Amino acid sequence: MQNKIWNETVKKNFNNAAANYLGYSNIQRHFAEKIVSFLKELNIQKGEWIDLGSGTGLLADEIEKEFSTKKITRIDFSKKMLLQNREYSKKILWDLNNGLPPKIRNCSLMTSNFCIHWLNNPQKIIRDWFNKLQSGGYLIIAYPTINSFPEWKQTCKETNIEYSGLTFPLSREILKNFTSEEILFSNKYLYVENFPDIYKLLRSIVNVGAQSTKCKRKKVFELKKMQKYWPKRDTNSVNLTWEINIQIFKKL
Ligand SMILES: C[S@@+](CC[C@H](N)C(=O)[O-])C[C@H]1O[C@@H](n2cnc3c(N)ncnc32)[C@H](O)[C@@H]1O
Repeated sequence: MQNKIWNETVKKNFNNAAANYLGYSNIQRHFAEKIVSFLKELNIQKGEWIDLGSGTGLLADEIEKEFSTKKITRIDFSKKMLLQNREYSKKILWDLNNGLPPKIRNCSLMTSNFCIHWLNNPQKIIRDWFNKLQSGGYLIIAYPTINSFPEWKQTCKETNIEYSGLTFPLSREILKNFTSEEILFSNKYLYVENFPDIYKLLRSIVNVGAQSTKCKRKKVFELKKMQKYWPKRDTNSVNLTWEINIQIFKKL
Protein backbone atom coordinates (compact mmCIF):
# COMPACT_ATOMS: atom_id res chain seq x y z
CA MET A 1 0.00 0.00 0.00
CA GLN A 2 1.40 3.42 -0.93
CA ASN A 3 2.37 5.70 1.96
CA LYS A 4 -0.28 8.29 1.10
CA ILE A 5 -3.15 5.79 1.06
CA TRP A 6 -1.79 4.13 4.21
CA ASN A 7 -1.62 7.49 5.99
CA GLU A 8 -5.23 8.27 5.08
CA THR A 9 -6.36 4.85 6.33
CA VAL A 10 -4.57 5.33 9.66
CA LYS A 11 -6.05 8.82 10.05
CA LYS A 12 -9.59 7.66 9.19
CA ASN A 13 -9.45 4.85 11.75
CA PHE A 14 -8.21 7.18 14.51
CA ASN A 15 -10.84 9.77 13.57
CA ASN A 16 -13.55 7.10 13.85
CA ALA A 17 -12.30 5.93 17.24
CA ALA A 18 -11.83 9.40 18.75
CA ALA A 19 -15.17 9.76 20.55
CA ASN A 20 -14.77 6.52 22.52
CA TYR A 21 -10.96 6.28 22.69
CA LEU A 22 -10.59 7.25 26.34
CA GLY A 23 -12.87 4.44 27.49
CA TYR A 24 -10.70 1.77 25.90
CA SER A 25 -7.12 3.01 26.18
CA ASN A 26 -5.98 1.23 29.38
CA ILE A 27 -2.52 0.34 28.10
CA GLN A 28 -1.87 3.86 26.78
CA ARG A 29 -2.97 5.28 30.16
CA HIS A 30 -0.71 2.86 32.04
CA PHE A 31 2.36 3.99 30.08
CA ALA A 32 1.34 7.67 30.17
CA GLU A 33 1.42 7.43 33.98
CA LYS A 34 4.82 5.73 33.79
CA ILE A 35 6.17 8.52 31.57
CA VAL A 36 4.98 11.10 34.11
CA SER A 37 6.73 9.22 36.91
CA PHE A 38 9.98 9.52 34.92
CA LEU A 39 9.40 13.21 34.19
CA LYS A 40 9.26 13.91 37.94
CA GLU A 41 12.87 12.71 38.20
CA LEU A 42 14.20 14.96 35.41
CA ASN A 43 15.41 18.48 35.76
CA ILE A 44 13.62 20.01 32.77
CA GLN A 45 14.67 23.51 31.80
CA LYS A 46 12.48 26.42 30.74
CA GLY A 47 11.01 26.00 27.27
CA GLU A 48 8.04 24.68 25.36
CA TRP A 49 6.66 21.18 26.11
CA ILE A 50 5.04 19.26 23.26
CA ASP A 51 3.26 15.91 22.96
CA LEU A 52 3.57 14.24 19.56
CA GLY A 53 0.68 12.09 18.34
CA SER A 54 -1.22 13.30 21.37
CA GLY A 55 -4.58 11.79 20.44
CA THR A 56 -7.27 12.88 22.90
CA GLY A 57 -4.63 14.37 25.22
CA LEU A 58 -4.35 11.43 27.60
CA LEU A 59 -0.61 11.92 28.27
CA ALA A 60 -0.68 15.72 27.97
CA ASP A 61 -3.45 15.88 30.61
CA GLU A 62 -1.47 13.60 32.95
CA ILE A 63 1.59 15.85 32.56
CA GLU A 64 -0.42 19.03 33.19
CA LYS A 65 -1.93 17.42 36.31
CA GLU A 66 1.56 16.88 37.72
CA PHE A 67 3.14 20.12 36.41
CA SER A 68 0.27 22.55 36.92
CA THR A 69 2.09 25.61 35.54
CA LYS A 70 2.88 23.99 32.19
CA LYS A 71 0.68 24.02 29.08
CA ILE A 72 1.49 21.13 26.76
CA THR A 73 1.10 21.65 23.01
CA ARG A 74 -0.79 18.69 21.59
CA ILE A 75 0.11 17.70 18.02
CA ASP A 76 -1.84 15.14 15.99
CA PHE A 77 -3.08 14.64 12.42
CA SER A 78 -6.53 13.43 13.51
CA LYS A 79 -8.88 16.39 13.81
CA LYS A 80 -11.43 14.35 15.76
CA MET A 81 -8.80 13.20 18.25
CA LEU A 82 -7.68 16.82 18.78
CA LEU A 83 -11.30 17.93 19.25
CA GLN A 84 -11.53 15.58 22.26
CA ASN A 85 -8.76 17.55 24.00
CA ARG A 86 -9.55 19.92 26.83
CA GLU A 87 -11.02 23.24 25.83
CA TYR A 88 -8.37 26.00 25.71
CA SER A 89 -5.53 23.45 25.43
CA LYS A 90 -2.86 24.24 22.81
CA LYS A 91 -3.44 22.07 19.74
CA ILE A 92 -1.81 21.76 16.32
CA LEU A 93 -3.30 19.67 13.50
CA TRP A 94 -0.24 18.30 11.73
CA ASP A 95 1.04 15.19 9.97
CA LEU A 96 4.22 14.15 11.75
CA ASN A 97 5.43 12.39 8.61
CA ASN A 98 6.23 15.94 7.46
CA GLY A 99 8.60 16.69 10.36
CA LEU A 100 7.61 19.10 13.13
CA PRO A 101 5.31 22.11 12.61
CA PRO A 102 7.51 25.12 11.71
CA LYS A 103 6.23 27.18 14.66
CA ILE A 104 7.72 24.71 17.16
CA ARG A 105 10.81 26.29 18.70
CA ASN A 106 12.70 26.27 22.00
CA CYS A 107 11.41 22.93 23.12
CA SER A 108 12.79 21.56 26.37
CA LEU A 109 10.51 18.51 26.43
CA MET A 110 9.04 16.31 23.71
CA THR A 111 6.93 13.28 24.61
CA SER A 112 5.25 10.65 22.45
CA ASN A 113 3.14 7.76 23.72
CA PHE A 114 2.02 4.97 21.35
CA CYS A 115 2.50 7.00 18.18
CA ILE A 116 5.88 6.43 16.51
CA HIS A 117 4.96 3.01 15.10
CA TRP A 118 2.36 4.72 12.90
CA LEU A 119 4.96 6.92 11.19
CA ASN A 120 6.55 6.02 7.86
CA ASN A 121 10.14 6.17 9.03
CA PRO A 122 10.17 6.36 12.85
CA GLN A 123 13.93 5.97 13.15
CA LYS A 124 14.62 9.07 11.05
CA ILE A 125 11.68 11.10 12.36
CA ILE A 126 12.68 10.58 16.00
CA ARG A 127 16.19 11.79 15.29
CA ASP A 128 14.75 14.86 13.53
CA TRP A 129 12.58 15.62 16.58
CA PHE A 130 15.61 15.25 18.82
CA ASN A 131 17.68 17.60 16.63
CA LYS A 132 15.05 20.32 17.16
CA LEU A 133 15.22 20.12 20.97
CA GLN A 134 17.02 22.95 22.73
CA SER A 135 20.25 21.86 24.38
CA GLY A 136 19.60 20.19 27.72
CA GLY A 137 16.14 19.13 26.45
CA TYR A 138 14.56 15.68 26.75
CA LEU A 139 12.70 13.40 24.35
CA ILE A 140 10.65 10.55 25.87
CA ILE A 141 8.97 7.93 23.72
CA ALA A 142 6.91 4.84 24.55
CA TYR A 143 6.00 2.36 21.82
CA PRO A 144 5.25 -1.34 21.25
CA THR A 145 8.25 -3.28 19.97
CA ILE A 146 8.62 -6.01 17.39
CA ASN A 147 8.39 -8.62 20.19
CA SER A 148 4.75 -7.73 20.89
CA PHE A 149 1.87 -10.15 20.17
CA PRO A 150 3.74 -13.51 20.39
CA GLU A 151 0.41 -15.42 20.79
CA TRP A 152 -0.99 -13.89 17.62
CA LYS A 153 2.17 -14.63 15.61
CA GLN A 154 2.32 -18.20 16.92
CA THR A 155 -1.32 -18.81 16.01
CA CYS A 156 -0.74 -17.51 12.49
CA LYS A 157 2.28 -19.75 12.08
CA GLU A 158 0.38 -22.84 13.24
CA THR A 159 -2.65 -22.15 11.08
CA ASN A 160 -0.78 -20.83 8.06
CA ILE A 161 -2.80 -17.61 8.19
CA GLU A 162 -1.10 -14.32 7.35
CA TYR A 163 -0.25 -12.24 10.46
CA SER A 164 -2.18 -9.02 10.00
CA GLY A 165 -1.03 -7.12 13.09
CA LEU A 166 1.38 -4.21 12.73
CA THR A 167 5.12 -4.78 12.51
CA PHE A 168 6.37 -2.67 15.37
CA PRO A 169 9.80 -1.01 15.57
CA LEU A 170 12.94 -2.77 16.70
CA SER A 171 14.29 -0.92 19.75
CA ARG A 172 17.85 -1.46 18.61
CA GLU A 173 17.13 0.31 15.32
CA ILE A 174 15.71 3.35 17.12
CA LEU A 175 18.80 3.56 19.35
CA LYS A 176 21.19 3.34 16.40
CA ASN A 177 20.78 7.04 15.61
CA PHE A 178 21.83 8.16 19.11
CA THR A 179 25.17 8.23 20.88
CA SER A 180 25.49 6.48 24.24
CA GLU A 181 25.77 9.92 25.92
CA GLU A 182 22.42 10.93 24.42
CA ILE A 183 20.61 7.76 25.60
CA LEU A 184 19.58 8.34 29.19
CA PHE A 185 17.30 5.34 29.55
CA SER A 186 15.87 2.46 27.53
CA ASN A 187 13.77 -0.24 29.16
CA LYS A 188 11.22 -2.83 28.06
CA TYR A 189 8.02 -3.74 29.92
CA LEU A 190 5.57 -6.58 29.36
CA TYR A 191 1.87 -5.78 29.52
CA VAL A 192 -0.64 -8.61 29.17
CA GLU A 193 -4.28 -8.11 28.21
CA ASN A 194 -6.85 -10.88 28.63
CA PHE A 195 -10.06 -11.38 26.64
CA PRO A 196 -12.85 -14.00 26.61
CA ASP A 197 -12.10 -14.77 22.92
CA ILE A 198 -10.18 -13.44 19.91
CA TYR A 199 -13.21 -11.58 18.59
CA LYS A 200 -13.22 -9.34 21.69
CA LEU A 201 -9.43 -9.09 21.45
CA LEU A 202 -9.59 -7.84 17.86
CA ARG A 203 -12.47 -5.51 18.76
CA SER A 204 -10.30 -3.92 21.47
CA ILE A 205 -7.85 -2.90 18.75
CA VAL A 206 -10.62 -1.38 16.62
CA ASN A 207 -11.97 0.49 19.68
CA VAL A 208 -8.79 2.60 19.86
CA GLY A 209 -8.54 3.04 16.08
CA ALA A 210 -5.43 0.86 15.79
CA GLN A 211 -6.77 -1.74 13.34
CA SER A 212 -5.09 -0.37 10.17
CA THR A 213 -3.35 -3.16 8.31
CA LYS A 214 -1.71 -3.63 4.94
CA CYS A 215 -3.10 -7.20 4.80
CA LYS A 216 -6.36 -8.54 3.41
CA ARG A 217 -9.38 -8.67 5.72
CA LYS A 218 -9.63 -12.03 7.47
CA LYS A 219 -12.39 -14.38 6.30
CA VAL A 220 -14.83 -15.87 8.82
CA PHE A 221 -13.30 -19.36 8.56
CA GLU A 222 -9.82 -17.90 9.22
CA LEU A 223 -11.05 -16.13 12.33
CA LYS A 224 -12.67 -19.36 13.55
CA LYS A 225 -9.40 -21.20 13.02
CA MET A 226 -7.49 -18.51 14.90
CA GLN A 227 -9.96 -18.74 17.79
CA LYS A 228 -9.41 -22.50 17.91
CA TYR A 229 -5.60 -22.40 17.82
CA TRP A 230 -4.86 -19.26 19.86
CA PRO A 231 -3.15 -20.47 23.10
CA LYS A 232 -5.76 -20.64 25.87
CA ARG A 233 -5.48 -20.00 29.57
CA ASP A 234 -7.20 -22.21 32.18
CA THR A 235 -10.34 -20.15 31.80
CA ASN A 236 -10.33 -20.71 28.03
CA SER A 237 -9.64 -17.02 27.63
CA VAL A 238 -6.94 -15.54 25.38
CA ASN A 239 -3.98 -13.29 26.12
CA LEU A 240 -2.40 -10.53 24.10
CA THR A 241 1.12 -9.69 25.27
CA TRP A 242 2.66 -6.31 24.49
CA GLU A 243 6.32 -5.45 24.87
CA ILE A 244 6.59 -1.72 25.40
CA ASN A 245 9.83 0.21 25.27
CA ILE A 246 10.27 3.52 27.04
CA GLN A 247 13.29 5.49 25.90
CA ILE A 248 14.58 8.81 27.21
CA PHE A 249 17.07 10.86 25.21
CA LYS A 250 18.87 13.98 26.43
CA LYS A 251 20.29 16.63 24.12
CA LEU A 252 23.76 17.58 25.31
C1 LIG B 1 -2.79 5.06 19.82
S1 LIG B 1 -3.01 6.77 19.63
C2 LIG B 1 -2.09 7.39 21.02
C3 LIG B 1 -2.61 8.71 21.47
C4 LIG B 1 -1.98 9.27 22.75
N1 LIG B 1 -0.56 9.53 22.58
C5 LIG B 1 -2.22 8.37 23.92
O1 LIG B 1 -1.26 7.99 24.59
O2 LIG B 1 -3.39 8.05 24.19
C6 LIG B 1 -1.95 7.21 18.28
C7 LIG B 1 -2.11 8.65 17.84
O3 LIG B 1 -1.11 8.96 16.88
C8 LIG B 1 -1.69 9.79 15.90
N2 LIG B 1 -0.91 9.69 14.65
C9 LIG B 1 -0.65 8.58 13.93
N3 LIG B 1 0.05 8.90 12.82
C10 LIG B 1 0.24 10.25 12.87
C11 LIG B 1 0.88 11.17 12.00
N4 LIG B 1 1.44 10.80 10.86
N5 LIG B 1 0.89 12.49 12.36
C12 LIG B 1 0.30 12.90 13.52
N6 LIG B 1 -0.33 12.07 14.36
C13 LIG B 1 -0.36 10.76 14.04
C14 LIG B 1 -3.11 9.25 15.73
O4 LIG B 1 -3.98 10.17 15.14
C15 LIG B 1 -3.46 8.93 17.18
O5 LIG B 1 -4.09 10.01 17.81
